[in-house]
Amino acid sequence: MSDEQRPNGKKLTRREMLYRTGAGGLGLLIGASGVGSIAAIGKTLDKEQEGQIEDQVPFYGKHQAGIATKPQTYMYFISLDLTTKNISEVRDLFKEWTMASEKMAQAKLLGDYSNNPYIPPEDTGEAAGLSASKITFTYGFGPTFFEKEGSDRFGLANRKPNQLRSLPSFPGDEIEKEWSGGDLCVQVCANDQQVAFHAVRNLLRIGRGVVTLKWMQSGFQRTKQAEKKPSTPRNLFGFKDGTVNPSTEEDFNQIVWSNGSEAAWMKNGSYMVMRRIRMLLEVWDRTHLKEQNNTFGREKVSGAPLGQQNEFDEPDFHKKNEKGEPSIPVDSHVKLGRGDGSQKILRRAYSYTSEMDPTRAQLDAGLLFISYQKDPFKQFVPIQKRMAKSDRLNEYIRHIGSAVFACPGGSARGGYIGDQLF
Ligand code: HEM
Repeated sequence: MSDEQRPNGKKLTRREMLYRTGAGGLGLLIGASGVGSIAAIGKTLDKEQEGQIEDQVPFYGKHQAGIATKPQTYMYFISLDLTTKNISEVRDLFKEWTMASEKMAQAKLLGDYSNNPYIPPEDTGEAAGLSASKITFTYGFGPTFFEKEGSDRFGLANRKPNQLRSLPSFPGDEIEKEWSGGDLCVQVCANDQQVAFHAVRNLLRIGRGVVTLKWMQSGFQRTKQAEKKPSTPRNLFGFKDGTVNPSTEEDFNQIVWSNGSEAAWMKNGSYMVMRRIRMLLEVWDRTHLKEQNNTFGREKVSGAPLGQQNEFDEPDFHKKNEKGEPSIPVDSHVKLGRGDGSQKILRRAYSYTSEMDPTRAQLDAGLLFISYQKDPFKQFVPIQKRMAKSDRLNEYIRHIGSAVFACPGGSARGGYIGDQLF
């Protein structure tokens, strides 16, 4: 969705825009600590206008950044396994990651090069002199962080929320272990790939001896430079993707943020579902346009629901076409995605490519589907059950990776990610 529009096409209010850009969160945080939030937002805007913090998203806040933040251009997703049995090492790692993330969010080096020329530098250096590029860090805990092979690894199993369980398997799933699960995850997003890669590399360096990399995937969207005017990004099937999504603070409170009732440490956090979905581009590219439109239930070029004119028009699922059939087919992706409208999620997807599948000499590409919600089992799962059963899109996609993570609320200066859990 564009910076300035809501799904219904109306312009976002200034407050909603602040929310999506993260400045609202900053204001709320400052407000909570007793300083006037409106004044703080005003100052934030002044500074942004001066270009000082234009490309920085604050790391500290009520919520972790990278969820309500308008999606940046690049993403690295890392899934990690813990190799330590010692909870204090895990705690120390999160403290170090928090400090490093905050520095990188401000485009600062992680250490001083000149301290001692006979030890490796504390920062690997490839982001030196580059801007923060709106980098965000979103940390999550997988079900296996709490319990692995029947063992309560860190004595925290009783704090595992019921919402944090492995997803069931759905019809048609072709899930591969190498793209699934993980004790921990970090989603790093930035408007510059080198800045994002530098961050991931340094987080891994800091974690050496405590965590190992289980799997990793990069994702992309169009860059700001390539965009003639702000618009909804297109996926690799050429369709606008992200039109219907929560946009206001009220939406986020209803759909995305946990109120902590299931587990106090998850207050202001959210549950992430990650699906690595391969898109069969060669098959799709041989499919005629009408079938492509019917598959999604939207027009490829404009993004409008079938039977309507504009992208943000409300879909009319009762409208009939000239043949007397529903304009939006009953097995189309948006019809099944909507259902009766009672389950909603925040989708924050990126395209991926791993270049080529050598076994088939075909492109290996698709969608890193990431959704955030209060409860995957009440939101993502029922939607995916409907889709797995009868979505027309199934002919052109394969779900090959799956993971679920609990992403706690943000931390305040002086605290660290997950401090409410440990
Ligand atoms: C490669 C796989 C997928 C592709 C290419 C894709 C693409 C799209 C597109 C183009 C739209 C219409 C525009 C929009 O509102 O953003 C859409 C809508 C939607 N998709 Fe997907 N999607 C994929 C997988 C999924 C999955 C796995 C889910 C969740 C289980 C999902 C849930 C939804 C929902 C809830 C909507 C909005 C429906 C509405 O209320 O109008 N999608 N998707």
